[in-house]
Amino acid sequence: MAEMRVTPWTVEGKIEYERLIKEFGTSPITDELLKELESTAKKPLPVFLRRGFFFSHRDLNVALREYKEGKPFFIYTGRGPSGKMHLGHILSFLMAKWLQEAFGANLYIEITDDEKFLQKREYTLEKTREQADKDILDIVALGFDPEKTFIFKDTEYVGHVYPLMIKAAKKVTFSTMRAVFGFTNETNVGLIFWPMYQVIPTFFEKNRALIPCAIDQDPYWRVQRDIAEGLGYKKAAAIHGMFLPPLQGTEGKMSSSKAESAIYLNDDTKTVRKKIMKYAFSGGQPTVKEHRKKGGNPDIDVSFIYLKMLFEEDDKKLKEIYNAYKSGEMLTGELKDYTAKKISAFLEEHQRRKKTDGERLAKKMMYEGELARAMWERVYE
Ligand code: TYM
Repeated sequence: MAEMRVTPWTVEGKIEYERLIKEFGTSPITDELLKELESTAKKPLPVFLRRGFFFSHRDLNVALREYKEGKPFFIYTGRGPSGKMHLGHILSFLMAKWLQEAFGANLYIEITDDEKFLQKREYTLEKTREQADKDILDIVALGFDPEKTFIFKDTEYVGHVYPLMIKAAKKVTFSTMRAVFGFTNETNVGLIFWPMYQVIPTFFEKNRALIPCAIDQDPYWRVQRDIAEGLGYKKAAAIHGMFLPPLQGTEGKMSSSKAESAIYLNDDTKTVRKKIMKYAFSGGQPTVKEHRKKGGNPDIDVSFIYLKMLFEEDDKKLKEIYNAYKSGEMLTGELKDYTAKKISAFLEEHQRRKKTDGERLAKKMMYEGELARAMWERVYE
């Protein structure tokens, strides 16, 4: 079994989430904190919170306390356009959407066309910019408030943040960057400076930023929290998700750089079905006879995990499936069929919204909505 490795650019091995909380120095999301979140929010908790997919945080309790005292937080998240977007990517965005709706907060979305150009040897800037435009259509189709959301591409917005970015950069040494991100003598100097750009949106407001992301992005917030107060801003709060597993099983993460590991947002119904039937790791027994006798193991079954984390909202139905699969009454083929249908229904609706409304919404959230217009007038000094 591969050794666990979790950095912003690599996720490998069997992921031990409790160990990550300890190693990263974050806090677990306890039942008590979830109750507090539920009683403060204007909406019921979504499945990915109820079922523990978002498992760790920094200062979420502080952000909630401040909110109750009348000091709102803003939401910040992002996407690195390195390849087609897949199901794993949408969890942070769905979390951002829920937070926006439940707390009426502004949302800022960074599209790091520069990061992926610097990080991937084989990528041209033209390619990452092109991918950025495609990703933005997928992101807006998830349905944020167009007046309260600002989506920006790094290479396009940079003039508005550069003065503050160099002020922030002057407070961070190479030895910190090396320790936090694992840079070596072979790392290009663009990438060594680049993390400052992922830090900057946490300073878009004087209010506290609350960042939904998977735990791989946490290193940036460590750097941010070291320098924020010295620059007159608040330390960022974060809410960390697990990784949606790849089709092949529970090691590593669904990743756009491994085509066979992922279900893409533009996969059609036939492709989804084929991928689930052919690749989705099964907790079932090798033969029907054995399965009926011994039952399956839903906890390691990737189809079941997808249902649990996102696609089956009904708690009662999920429990029925769990029990039926475990007892052997439900077969692997039946579980896969159910899961493929659920995912396809979600994706068909997503693709329809993207096609009919994507361009209009992208324009609004990037340039014409209320928050977007205000952001293009601002320069961060
Ligand atoms: P990127 O494009 O690698 O990933 C986008 C978001 O998706 C999360 N993620 C996953 N979540 C669950 N399961 C998976 N298999 C999975 N794979 C990726 C990531 O943690 C991330 O939240 N540098 C960033 C872009 C960025 C950003 C941010 C992300 C800029 N500012 C602020 C979060 C918050 C990147 O390349 O993400």
